Amino acid sequence: MTQAESRVLCPALRNRIMSADEAAALIRKGDNIGMSGFTGAGYPKAVPGALARRIHQANSEGDRFKVGIWTGASTAPELDGALASVAGVEMRLPYQSDPVCRQRINAGEMEYIDIHLSHVAQFVWFGFLGHLDVAVVEVTGITEDGQLIPSTSIGNNKTWLDEADKIILEVNSAQDMNLLGMHDIYYGTQRPPHRKPIPLVAPGDRIGQPTFRVNPDKIVAIVETHAADRNTQFSAPDENSRRIAGHILDFLQHEVKKGRLPPELLPLQSGVGNIANAVLAGLEDGPFENLTAYTEVLQDGMLQLLKSGKLAFASATAVSLSTDALKEFRENLAFYRERILLRPQEISNHPEVIRRLGIIAMNGMIEADIYGNVNSTHVMGSQIMNGIGGSGDFARNAYLSMFMTPSTAKGGAISCIVPMVPHVDHTEHDVQVVVTEQGLADLRGLSPKQRAETIIERCAHPDFKPALRDYYRRALKGSPGQHTPHLLDEAFSWHLRALAGRGM
Ligand code: COA
Repeated sequence: MTQAESRVLCPALRNRIMSADEAAALIRKGDNIGMSGFTGAGYPKAVPGALARRIHQANSEGDRFKVGIWTGASTAPELDGALASVAGVEMRLPYQSDPVCRQRINAGEMEYIDIHLSHVAQFVWFGFLGHLDVAVVEVTGITEDGQLIPSTSIGNNKTWLDEADKIILEVNSAQDMNLLGMHDIYYGTQRPPHRKPIPLVAPGDRIGQPTFRVNPDKIVAIVETHAADRNTQFSAPDENSRRIAGHILDFLQHEVKKGRLPPELLPLQSGVGNIANAVLAGLEDGPFENLTAYTEVLQDGMLQLLKSGKLAFASATAVSLSTDALKEFRENLAFYRERILLRPQEISNHPEVIRRLGIIAMNGMIEADIYGNVNSTHVMGSQIMNGIGGSGDFARNAYLSMFMTPSTAKGGAISCIVPMVPHVDHTEHDVQVVVTEQGLADLRGLSPKQRAETIIERCAHPDFKPALRDYYRRALKGSPGQHTPHLLDEAFSWHLRALAGRGM
């Protein structure tokens, strides 16, 4: 790239430009590396691959080389996939969704810590996770005075830049320079006991600055790239997703009628995936106007709502779009810059802000039990799927916390409503509404026994309802305690049957 084309506008930093292989050579065995990236957006495109090649070379020479990889959330095959393929990761945190990474974790070949996304930055500030050696962060450009223009995600980048000893920047010219102004980097967070309230009272409030500041002395390498983000493809909502979305929309209308929600609702948080997208698509045709979102990831559905004017403003930490939606976003960036703010994830997911704004949280799950405990992360109780992500940050502190899933999985062989979940991410205390295509269970104000009856009758699939009723009735008779009746020797028998390949 010629100097005229380069986005490294700060003259003092131009001599740090080098190749990805040269930059990767500056990373040492055992380093903890904070990498950018959130839901396939804004991750470094070149250095992770170069590091993977280096690790592969070292391993083939008998030199066991591993690093710790900390990110915002999930990344892409060029990062998680490349490093997991060469068995280069000792410890991964906080959220991943890469198939190779998942396989390594479940095979016991990679350690993984699944923590709330809002906790990551402060755990690093407090020193809970050990020392951060290197930051590898994608940016859109470097200004003349050395400020960094963020990319399509913020995630934990501020923390990586502040805390790491050494910084490697990837300046990606495939990211649009017009992103400048869409970010709000808050530098006001203090450590206890000196914390002050975060001055954010509406999703659109700007409380920070549009660029990252960085100590230039820590920048050891700048790699220029030109590569697109991973695109998230969505399938058209299937029948189950549409029915789940329908139940949620009816419920929200009912809440407005009851006066428990204003006509424009409260700020929405929507998890990732096809069901979430179907709910957003349903809002497009629904009666609500002037909606707002305070969420983690801005996906296709929200972009469409912004375009149509149904959604007035969206705050997130990443923009993760399909190819078509990305085209729309880039062609109309000036329009979207007025309506979107990207924030550090400790702010997008901050419990204080979520509680203050009164978020309506809608997240996917693997399964729920009859009392409303939710498993979002572990198939059959022990195999990690992705991670808790921000679902706990939102569910615990939301005005309304909803969890949704089809009532069955694996072609109908497995019930997603079970007697007892074998792994708990969200306890019955944090789950207010459970939704399947069968119906919606509003658990607010219900005792455990009332919850069980409601979840079984409203949410379970007809194929599994009789067995759930039978379990619950026998638990009522045979359980030593009547507050939350269970048959402990039977509670996991459904999962044991599934593990033995006999369905549930
Ligand atoms: N038992 C066993 N397997 C199950 C299951 C169950 N009860 N429910 C789902 N699965 C399997 C599916 O079969 C599928 O496996 P496959 O890929 O091998 O076919 C996999 O789990 C994913 O299920 P899918 O129906 O495609 O769900 P999804 O894409 O809607 O994702 C979660 C559901 C729970 C995995 C996803 O929402 C998640 O990771 N949530 C946690 C993080 C989160 O909520 N983030 C948002 C916060 S901002």
